[in-house]
Amino acid sequence: MGANIPLPMKKGFGATDRIDAWWKGPTAMAAYLGIMIIYATWRGFMEADFWIFAEYGLSGGQGGHAGTMAIESEGSHVLSPLFSPLILPGEGALGGPIPKWLWWMSPAMFILVFPAGFRGTCYYYRKAYYRAFFQQPTACAVSKPWNTYKGETGILVAQNLHRYFMYAALAYLPILSWDVYLSTQFTGGGLGVSVGTLVLALNVALLGGYTLGCHAFRHIVGGGANDWTSSPLARLKYKLWKFSTVLNERHKDWALYSLFWVMFADFYIYACTMGWWTDIVIWGGL
Ligand code: FES
Repeated sequence: MGANIPLPMKKGFGATDRIDAWWKGPTAMAAYLGIMIIYATWRGFMEADFWIFAEYGLSGGQGGHAGTMAIESEGSHVLSPLFSPLILPGEGALGGPIPKWLWWMSPAMFILVFPAGFRGTCYYYRKAYYRAFFQQPTACAVSKPWNTYKGETGILVAQNLHRYFMYAALAYLPILSWDVYLSTQFTGGGLGVSVGTLVLALNVALLGGYTLGCHAFRHIVGGGANDWTSSPLARLKYKLWKFSTVLNERHKDWALYSLFWVMFADFYIYACTMGWWTDIVIWGGL
């Protein structure tokens, strides 16, 4: 009893008895997450010089700022989710508390810590990037480059912040929904729907599926309860927990699709502001 019996596993990075293409998943994930991180970083820094845009529009309900953050050309106000809520140093409203000398910071830099922190500490993403980037583990029953395993100790204790990032992510849902509403308010006072409106609406739906299926959210609404029936509150908690559970069962899909769509929504707006695409007005407008 108690003697360590070594497992009959092959030694050496990537060595394994598995005969399936085990490396495909982690490799594809590394490529996918790598592209998304590079794109978000590039865009986050891109608007650092937004003050040089002489002609500001009416985006974001903040009195008018455009650059490549928002579509203006067709009269709609479609703000990129990477820059929402729009925080401009020294401005009124949200930018007010931030000193003007931070003018060189992109609006994205003030806010991306919250969605990035939420995704970076997500239980699903942790599994994905521990394998894809850190080979910890490389894959099931595949030898990894190092023998040590300390679990989520040391600096990785910060992963426990996930439940707090979850509250911030919940706050994003009404903020981004407000952006959908703003995208229906056209420059001339008319009501309309453009392709950009639909892009933003789908973004909110996907982020909602991802956030409301979060393990921490599911625990908040239903964890620790041993009574689902005795009161209206208990029954409401049960319904919320059931709803969150349905989303949670596909949490990986929500995580991956919503990430793609946030980036696509931003790219759509970027492409329209660059004149590559046009934000076609489907209904109403002006
Ligand atoms: S566990 Fe993935 S978002 Fe919370």
